[in-house]
Amino acid sequence: MRSIYFTLLAGCVLLLGLSKVAGAFHLDIYEPRVPSELLDELQDIDNPYPATPERIEIGRKIFFEKGMCVSCHGENGKGVIRPGHSPRDFTDPKWQDIRTDGEIMWVLRNGSPGTEMPVRVGNIIDVEEGWSVIHFIRTFSSGN
Ligand code: HEC
Repeated sequence: MRSIYFTLLAGCVLLLGLSKVAGAFHLDIYEPRVPSELLDELQDIDNPYPATPERIEIGRKIFFEKGMCVSCHGENGKGVIRPGHSPRDFTDPKWQDIRTDGEIMWVLRNGSPGTEMPVRVGNIIDVEEGWSVIHFIRTFSSGN
């Protein structure tokens, strides 16, 4: 009898733990990933480079090669399935519309806390390369 109670208790503890892990990142992809106190400031930042075909091409190379973004975000930008995350879909026009370049740059510099999205700018790519890859990510939007 005691062991049944123990199993139930262990189950509850496990469930509680799992919900904590799930709470470490936002399941809602439309929710901002940046700290709320920085949101206004970051949303005002524009990409300093115009989206020329040359710039987008540089961004494409970073996505597929130097930045290794393709390993998690997939060739079509729809994202590969990784444990614990709903795959990120760059072709979603609503996400493209809501998320500003300034916020994405913050994520490239800091990663997305509590997720597998790693720091890229300042780590394996520089700031200019970061802005270029953001232009490339915009080309995935099916709204374009
Ligand atoms: C190890 C896997 C991995 C790599 C490599 C990676 N990402 Fe991510 N990325 C993720 C995950 C997981 C998320 C979803 C995080 C979340 O839900 O906040 C994400 C989210 C994002 C987002 C959405 C952030 C937002 O504000 O909604 C952008 C933009 C992004 N990644 C760009 C990139 C770029 C550009 C590169 C390459 C320079 C890259 N990622 C490399 C795993 C990765």
